[in-house]
Amino acid sequence: MHVDRVQQLDEAARAVGGSEPHRALFFEGQEGIGKTALLTELHRRHSDTTIFYVDLGDMFSESDVLGAVARQASRQGVRMDSFRALRQRYGEAPSVVFNHAEIKKANVDLALNVNSNRRMQNDALTDELVAALGESAHSSRIIMLLDSFEKCQAPLSDWIRRDLLPELLTSGRVGVFLAGRSVPSLQPQHSGLTRTLALPPFDPSIVEEWIALSGIEALKGLGHVIWGGTGGLPSMIKEFLSNYSTAEWPS
Ligand SMILES: Nc1ncnc2c1ncn2[C@@H]1O[C@H](COP(=O)(O)OP(=O)(O)O)[C@@H](O)[C@H]1O
Ligand SMILES: [Mg+2]
Repeated sequence: MHVDRVQQLDEAARAVGGSEPHRALFFEGQEGIGKTALLTELHRRHSDTTIFYVDLGDMFSESDVLGAVARQASRQGVRMDSFRALRQRYGEAPSVVFNHAEIKKANVDLALNVNSNRRMQNDALTDELVAALGESAHSSRIIMLLDSFEKCQAPLSDWIRRDLLPELLTSGRVGVFLAGRSVPSLQPQHSGLTRTLALPPFDPSIVEEWIALSGIEALKGLGHVIWGGTGGLPSMIKEFLSNYSTAEWPS
């Protein structure tokens, strides 16, 4: 059950419809405010389009993100042959990480070389992936849901900000919804394509709406009390309501 977020869902529908200048919405808010819930609701509402969900908190490298998108694309019938062929050609060799005990000039040269090759390869793979997605979507738009941005660290977060997001936004076919406790700021030439919406806590009337939807008769009219005790934070309201409905209450 998803409660409210009417304004954010309306904005999302407009961004997907292509009537707005922005192609990306960034949802910003504290832990438990409902970012993942909102992306899940967007996924449900757009299950008839090609849609991707990537939890960045689970990803360690650019290659993980590209691989996750490619797998979901294949599952949705997008042809990924050329992407897969390119990936195979590049192999799966990991980036070289500096080990401070081992720094000799030869090793540094090797590491710089491998890492810069890896960067070029990731650029090429990103291009290939976006091209494959573009070819697949003749009429409908593609939607990319990126969750937990705050959990991914540099250099992955830099790649998302500098490479992946600009590439998706300028392709003109992909609507991006990204969520995080903090969200990335893009270069000026791309920031006009994005809009950041803060997710606020629920107010008492929304808590009342949630009570009504959950059908707990005994709590009707007590929205403002629960709001007072939870600060309107969805994670706390949810916990309260689920404890309430499973507990044995003295009558
Ligand atoms: N709009 C909503 N309607 C119903 N439940 C919600 C809503 N927003 C959040 N929740 C519930 O509150 C809890 C925390 O939400 P979550 O989306 O995980 O927060 P975040 O991703 O911002 O940390 C989850 O159990 C989620 O199902
Ligand atoms: Mg979350």
